[in-house]
Amino acid sequence: MRTILYTGKGGVGKTSVAAATALKAARAGKKVLVMSTDPAHSLSDAFDAPIGPDPKEMAGGLWAQEMDHTAMIEDNWAEIQSYVSTVFEWQGANTLAAEELAMLPGMDELFGLLMVRRHHQGGEYDALIVDAAPTGETLKLLSLPDQMNWYVEKILPIQRRAAKLVRPFANRAKSLPPFPEDSVFAAGQRFYEAIAGVEEVLTDRQHASVRLVMNAEKMVIAEARRAYTYLNLYDYGVDAVVVNRLLPDTVTDPYFARWREAQERHMKTIAESFDPIPILTARLFDREMFGLEALAGLAEDVFEETEPLEVLFRGAAHDIRKNGEGYEVVFNLPLADKREVDLSKRGAELFVRVGTYRRNILLPDSLARLSAAGASIEEGRLKVRLADAGV
Ligand SMILES: Nc1ncnc2c1ncn2[C@@H]1O[C@H](COP(=O)(O)OP(=O)(O)OP(=O)(O)O)[C@@H](O)[C@H]1O
Ligand SMILES: [Mg+2]
Repeated sequence: MRTILYTGKGGVGKTSVAAATALKAARAGKKVLVMSTDPAHSLSDAFDAPIGPDPKEMAGGLWAQEMDHTAMIEDNWAEIQSYVSTVFEWQGANTLAAEELAMLPGMDELFGLLMVRRHHQGGEYDALIVDAAPTGETLKLLSLPDQMNWYVEKILPIQRRAAKLVRPFANRAKSLPPFPEDSVFAAGQRFYEAIAGVEEVLTDRQHASVRLVMNAEKMVIAEARRAYTYLNLYDYGVDAVVVNRLLPDTVTDPYFARWREAQERHMKTIAESFDPIPILTARLFDREMFGLEALAGLAEDVFEETEPLEVLFRGAAHDIRKNGEGYEVVFNLPLADKREVDLSKRGAELFVRVGTYRRNILLPDSLARLSAAGASIEEGRLKVRLADAGV
């Protein structure tokens, strides 16, 4: 099953583009499910029709789903819930209801991602299009398997052993929180495995990719570049960026002249940041994207002749690797010969110029303090060394 996850800053057009992608693919004869992991239920706005927690056919071959997170928690995590609520009760609070558990930060997204896995196992659709949350939330979740791995391997076995020893005494002492039963640890383990399973689905470069939706605006692009750096680090493949809401050529009113000029400038930054990843564009329409025909128009603009479900790019615009004491950033540029390399760095931002090629990336926060120590071209790729300023 092909899986495409759309993310990007709030309000840039993720839901519209996700719905448009699904519609175009369905009209080409595929069976496609578009699902929103966003509790705001905006897919039903995009389709201008009610959508429920069970997949519903909106048009031939096009299915849509908006999740009911509370129901999912009740179905799946009753054991965890009961443990959490016992602990809370011991702390003097009332029993925690599923609705309250559902309100914990990140829960909506988390269950959305678990639903991705469920559909993957179900194998009912040719493609699953995920309308994900704004970048920050999504990235936090996509990094979760890595972090949980550590927890499960290091902490869980210790807690479990400790619980075995202490439980007979602890449960008699009212002043201590009740120790979880083994079934709770087992539920935790299954939970972890489910999340790791989602990671496996989403990092499978043959079938899965992330697409970054943005507008040609400064802050939006900055967030997308940062997201790209982290997606790379966590090994998620980005196969396209979608620049939405560009002023169409037909708008010649001088009132918009500055907007147009700014958008042209920002398009350059986008190319320098993401090339060779394909950059798809859509114009600012003269109305909001409500209903099938509006979405079909958006899909034509975004994809033109491109097949929406194709994996449009494999590989990465850059890689960050550890190298001895420092790190190196490898730019996948089609560079044939050695030329003068211009390097500069400002905060987390690294600028590189080689002949007519210009690249700039935002480094992960943990590397922002390092300086650019030199560059070399090897096997047609540009390597930039990062090291402590003092070294
Ligand atoms: N190309 C476009 N032309 C005109 N209107 C658009 C275009 N793309 C999106 N819109 C409109 O902009 C608004 C926001 O779009 P959308 O809901 O798709 O963004 P989003 O990124 O999913 O937002 P959120 O972060 O809130 O989920 C909607 O009203 C939508 O109809
Ligand atoms: Mg949305």
